[in-house]
Amino acid sequence: MNTAIGTPQIEPQKPASSSLPPVPMTGNLPPRVPDVFDPEYRSAMKNVLEARQPMDWIGVHQFLGFPEDRVAGAKFVTRRLSVAPDPDRVVLSHSTQAILTVLCGALVGTSGVLAVEELTYPAMAKFAKQMGFNLVGVKLDEEGIVPDAFEKVCEQHKPQALYTLPTLQNPTTALMGLERRKEIVAIARKHGVAILEDDIYALLPKDLPPPLAELAPEITYYMLGTAKSIGAGLKAAYLVTPKETDPARLFWPGSGMTYWMIAPANAGVATELIHNGGADRIISAVRDETRARQKMVAQTLQGASLRCAPECLHVWMDVPANRELSDFVEDCKRRGAEVGPATTFLIAGGSAPHRIRFGTGKARDREVLQRGLDAISGAFFR
Ligand SMILES: Cc1ncc(COP(=O)(O)O)c(C=O)c1O
Repeated sequence: MNTAIGTPQIEPQKPASSSLPPVPMTGNLPPRVPDVFDPEYRSAMKNVLEARQPMDWIGVHQFLGFPEDRVAGAKFVTRRLSVAPDPDRVVLSHSTQAILTVLCGALVGTSGVLAVEELTYPAMAKFAKQMGFNLVGVKLDEEGIVPDAFEKVCEQHKPQALYTLPTLQNPTTALMGLERRKEIVAIARKHGVAILEDDIYALLPKDLPPPLAELAPEITYYMLGTAKSIGAGLKAAYLVTPKETDPARLFWPGSGMTYWMIAPANAGVATELIHNGGADRIISAVRDETRARQKMVAQTLQGASLRCAPECLHVWMDVPANRELSDFVEDCKRRGAEVGPATTFLIAGGSAPHRIRFGTGKARDREVLQRGLDAISGAFFR
């Protein structure tokens, strides 16, 4: 899926107009698809309001979510799992982040060790700092976690859990093949390491290998958020736990905290979208737009060394060896694109590769994206 495209061509380009604000490309949101999203969301909201009794729905705490919303969650995850889990294993939350804080608190603890990919989602560094646990980085290659490196980390650091993004890893875009997935779960099993699998980027690509949760359901906490495929503000994320007893034990009443809970209105809208096919229609539109934007990347940055995939929201790009990483990032900004240096993702020590990550989805439309890509191209081929 990943493509490395040739060596840099020296081809001077004009800096982008400086009168406009830089195009925001540090984040990796899904692109806007208002023609599909707006009518789907409106009708889902309307239907759910008509179908439910507001007082019974909003006026109470449903700690683990309404049964119908847990059933919808169990259905939603069948986009990746071959069989719908028992709804008793499903937790509804407003975000993957909140699920992660509860899981890390319960499974890793304040003085424990969480193994992470050597470059990963930077929020994990904030959680570790806040909660006091330690992070240990595991080497990556083009298929993600390197088995020998993971085994060594298990032997030396005895982590309680591994946080991993096997599909379109953030930031490297690595995609773990089936054999590699089997190796990783075998090592986790051998060393008694729980797996926190974040599959948030897995709904746009098709024909993916199965999640780790499918290979090792008894040790994997499987997270499927909607922020990268439907909308960041839907605020709906699903967790499938290994056992039916885990949700109550780890979340409510086990945690005694409610901050992670989904707002019932959001759960209801998500349920409606899952059942009426709206979720699939939105995801399909986001997929098409993501593919179109990745084509623009390939065309504009032809000659640069890129790691990307047609349905990936971000691009992992080599910076010319004769340029300082921070200078290159500044140059992109000056020319009109805000991009993120690799150092942002290096949260457990080691050295950062000479790369940047940029997202294609936050630019409001293709014209704005083109302006951002031209700025990056201008910095690269100057
Ligand atoms: C890997 C990864 N997981 C989770 C999230 C956030 O998801 P949520 O909004 O559901 O917390 C992000 C957002 O950038 C992400 O990159």
